[in-house]
Amino acid sequence: MAEKILQIRNLTTGFMSEKGLAKATDRVSIELEKGQTLCIVGESGSGKSVTAMSVMRLIDYAGGIIADGEVLFNGQDLVKKKQSEMLKIRGNLITMIFQDPMSALNPVFTVGDQISEALRIHKGLKKQEAWMQSIDMLRRVGIPAPEIRVKQYPYELSGGMCQRVVIAMALACNPELLIADEPTTALDVTVQAQILDLLLQLKNEFRMSMLLITHDMGVAAEVADRIAVMYAGTVVEEGTVREIFEQPRHPYTIGLLKSIPGLEGERGGELYTIKGSIPPLSQLPKGCRFHPRCPYAMDICRHKEPEMHESPTGHKAACFLDEADGSDPRPGAAKSQETKSAAKVTIRSMSEVAQS
Ligand SMILES: Nc1ncnc2c1ncn2[C@@H]1O[C@H](COP(=O)(O)OP(=O)(O)OP(=O)(O)O)[C@@H](O)[C@H]1O
Ligand code: SF4
Ligand SMILES: [Mg+2]
Repeated sequence: MAEKILQIRNLTTGFMSEKGLAKATDRVSIELEKGQTLCIVGESGSGKSVTAMSVMRLIDYAGGIIADGEVLFNGQDLVKKKQSEMLKIRGNLITMIFQDPMSALNPVFTVGDQISEALRIHKGLKKQEAWMQSIDMLRRVGIPAPEIRVKQYPYELSGGMCQRVVIAMALACNPELLIADEPTTALDVTVQAQILDLLLQLKNEFRMSMLLITHDMGVAAEVADRIAVMYAGTVVEEGTVREIFEQPRHPYTIGLLKSIPGLEGERGGELYTIKGSIPPLSQLPKGCRFHPRCPYAMDICRHKEPEMHESPTGHKAACFLDEADGSDPRPGAAKSQETKSAAKVTIRSMSEVAQS
């Protein structure tokens, strides 16, 4: 069996409010194999970032509380670690890239100082050695004239360059796991595809595993081995990129796929949107949390919560349609390969159009 680098089990995280714990994730379970890329997709507010921040235990500093569950990293439960122990893991064995590169960089230090610091803290390198390695990292992330750039401040670099510096910082200590939370969304469309390509190339070069968070199915189609679909704080479907695009089982996933621009949209039809909006976890409906928005909702969906079912190939979904007798109303796989291609084309073409 393939080795798992990360096993998130029944992770429930929340924030204290006047009424007690307001959940932000609810029994999230996700597994990542060594060397693979798992994408977490889902609408805004579905709990993607809270899941990532919980893995890093940065959630503690954002006022969050891990109420239940485990986060096994190479078999060790990070939930049980003290913050002093996490300091040896975070920024070293597990690193994270955020959406906005400017907020990750300190404006008053040169980029060389910032990459060097990580190398000196975690790898114990001497000043000169860390500086030389910083130049090498800038070169590896495709920054031209790294000997000059290394002495510059973040404000002297473009957004794309800054995100390359952040990637250099994240990879400097050769982490085993890279978590990237919407790493391209704040960037100009011309550089989005370049940064994604760079991440994939470096992931292979550094033999890392990657947990990539995105609300963009196009990005997931481009980079993922497996995809976990989150809705209202929990995972509703998980499978290989092929299973998700060719045989989506959860109606929410089907809705996300139908909403990809370039399918209905480019052909003159209206772009599909999933009706309604995601509920806060404090106001979840009874039964299946997706039922008020689900075009296939049945009686049982309004009373009972569906459990996750796993196919023999490992494709998981939580939907009563998998247990229902009679004809299946969900659309078949006929258009699915087309959907995946459209998703990939969307981000490529955005970039190409912008460049022309
Ligand atoms: N610091 C916080 N305090 C209170 N609630 C929070 C905090 N951070 C997140 N939440 C809540 O947790 C839930 C999940 O938020 P999260 O940021 O994980 O969503 P997301 O899937 O990353 O969305 P997006 O795509 O917009 O980044 C939301 O309901 C959000 O309001
Ligand atoms: S369980 Fe019912 S409401 Fe929920 S996604 Fe499946 S069909 Fe829709
Ligand atoms: Mg987020």
